[in-house]
Amino acid sequence: MTVLVGVVSQKGGVGKSTLARLIAREYAAAGWDVKIADLDISQGTSTDWKQRREQNCLQPEIAVEPFRTIAQALKHADVYDLMVLDGAPHSMQGTLEIARASALLVLPTGLSLDDLKPSVLLAHELVKAHIPESKITFALCRVGDRDNEIEEARSYIHKAGYSTVAGSIPEKTAYRQASDSGRAVSEVTFPTLRQRAEEVAQGIINKLSKQEA
Ligand SMILES: Nc1ncnc2c1ncn2[C@@H]1O[C@H](COP(=O)(O)OP(=O)(O)OP(=O)(O)O)[C@@H](O)[C@H]1O
Ligand SMILES: [Mg+2]
Repeated sequence: MTVLVGVVSQKGGVGKSTLARLIAREYAAAGWDVKIADLDISQGTSTDWKQRREQNCLQPEIAVEPFRTIAQALKHADVYDLMVLDGAPHSMQGTLEIARASALLVLPTGLSLDDLKPSVLLAHELVKAHIPESKITFALCRVGDRDNEIEEARSYIHKAGYSTVAGSIPEKTAYRQASDSGRAVSEVTFPTLRQRAEEVAQGIINKLSKQEA
C-alpha cells in the first residue's frame, strides 16, 4: 500500500516544498520508491527542483510530477511506496483534500506569532472538518539561533493541542544553495546543518511509522 504524507500551510514560503523534498529524499535513500506530487501547479517549484536535480546527476532519483488536483495525484499513487503531497498555499479546499488522503499531515511554521497563529488556526479548521488531531504535526522551519525562541514556539503549539516534529530547520544560505542545485536540505555539505535536517526527517519518519502501526 502507498503511504501518503501531506505537507501543507495556508501561508506561502514557510517551507512546505523544502520539507516535502527532505521527506522524499530520506525515504528514497532508504530504498523506497517515492514520488512528490507537486500540487502547486502555478509555481511548480518542486517540478523545477527535480530538473535541477537531474541536471546535476544527483542520486537517489526522486520522481516529481505536477498534478492539478489531489484526485489525479491519488490515481497515480499506487505504484509508489510513498507519495509526498506538496501542497499549494492559500487553498483551504486543497489542504482539506490532502489532509483526508494523508496518513500524516506536516504543517511547517516559523516562530513568530504571525506564523504560529495562522498555522494553529489551520490545524483547528482541519480538526473541525473531522481530521484527527493525531494526524497533524508541526515542523519548525526557518528558525533563528535562539533555543528559547524555538522552545517557546514549540510550547505554543503543544498548548494548542498539537504535536511537533523533533528538531528544527534553521534559516541558512547553505540550504537555499542546496535547493538551487537540486539538493534536499539533508544533502548540504556542512555536517551540522545536515544533522539538523536529518533530525527533522527522522522525527517525521518516527511519526509516520506510528501512524502506520
Ligand atoms: N531553512 C531555510 N533556509 C534558507 N532558505 C530557505 C529555508 N527554507 C526555505 N527556504 C527558501 O525559502 C523559499 C520558500 O521555501 P519553500 O519553497 O520550501 O516554501 P513553500 O512553503 O513551499 O512556499 P510556497 O508556499 O510558495 O509553495 C525557497 O526559496 C527556499 O529555498
Ligand atoms: Mg511550495
